[in-house]
Amino acid sequence: KIIPVIIAGGKGTRLWPLSRATAPKQFIQFVGDRTLFQATLARVSDPMVYEAPLVITNEDFRFLAAEQARAIGLSLSGILLEPSARNTAAAVAASAAFVAKQFGENALILVLASDHEVVSGPEYADAIHIAAKTAASGKLVTFGITPIEPATGYGYIEVGDKLATGAAEVKRFVEKPVLAEAEKMLAAGGFAWNSGMFMFNTSQVLQELGLHAPDVERAASQAVAKALNDLDFVRLDPQAFAASPDISIDYALMEKTTNAAVVPASFTWSDIGSWDAVWKLGIRDEAGNVTSGNATLVNTKNSLVMSRHGHLAVQGLDGVAVIASEDAIYVGRLNESQNVGTLVKQLAAAK
Ligand code: GDD
Ligand code: MG
Repeated sequence: KIIPVIIAGGKGTRLWPLSRATAPKQFIQFVGDRTLFQATLARVSDPMVYEAPLVITNEDFRFLAAEQARAIGLSLSGILLEPSARNTAAAVAASAAFVAKQFGENALILVLASDHEVVSGPEYADAIHIAAKTAASGKLVTFGITPIEPATGYGYIEVGDKLATGAAEVKRFVEKPVLAEAEKMLAAGGFAWNSGMFMFNTSQVLQELGLHAPDVERAASQAVAKALNDLDFVRLDPQAFAASPDISIDYALMEKTTNAAVVPASFTWSDIGSWDAVWKLGIRDEAGNVTSGNATLVNTKNSLVMSRHGHLAVQGLDGVAVIASEDAIYVGRLNESQNVGTLVKQLAAAK
């Protein structure tokens, strides 16, 4: 059986002010009655296919993660706690080391981001099945999404020759290209977006991390070896873990390995990465507006207006996000919403 690993330690700063340091986007309800984290867990709850998921997150989010899993009646294989934020390479390495110890060297892990909107019908199950076969045959497996625009917030995968399993070789992996490069790849064709989901054989991913990112692998493995059990939580050793470089799995491993494969993902997928993405995903009225909460719009089009507090009235706007949380308000052009993270950094510095 496959062991799902949910990486849920990101800060999600681009969705400020709904996504906050104390409760980042994966733990928030955007659409429907579940948080993105809960929806991710529910997607891998079939006991015929999956073991109980392992969650890895930051120390600060331990109660959010535990409570939200309990609220949907799901038991977990554990919650690994990171004493400091060291990005996704260290999170994946620590999870793989933990799973290898718990379930054996050749266990298959399905690494899932906790901040995506995914429709898990038969296409999802098919893709997982192909990925498991491909990972068991010794590949680091990615899931490729058909690109629709030259987005710069994603990894790009150049798709190579077909493999017997139904996956294909990865010729090249380019994480977050600049716009000109993204446009070139889109025009050239033969590229897929990296979905941010991965299927790995634990011993193999650790071995390749040891090759391409030895400092990450060493820190994570030591942090697991010296970890302390604390009821539902497994606390990674702070000193050992802090020694890991702060780098994502995409830069640390996927750009470097020559041993990756890609499974075409035909299921519906969206990274809810920015207000623009929330607007695209939402239900738009005739004027192209997406609204939620107590909002009144006059002579406004193509805008996203969300209120979690008080009555929000907007007039004469086009292509704008207006977001009112309990204690803060954001107003900005939707086509600038990729840069909200920079603004949040300035806010933090100004404090
Ligand atoms: N445990 C843990 N620790 N999780 C983390 C950490 C960390 O330090 N940092 C981020 N995460 C989690 C986030 O919560 C999210 O679920 C996932 O890891 C991905 O992190 P993002 O910060 O959202 O990555 P991204 O969107 O910029 O890029 C990744 O996803 C894209 C698709 O959405 C890359 O894999 C891209 O190649 C990919 O296209
Ligand atoms: Mg993301």
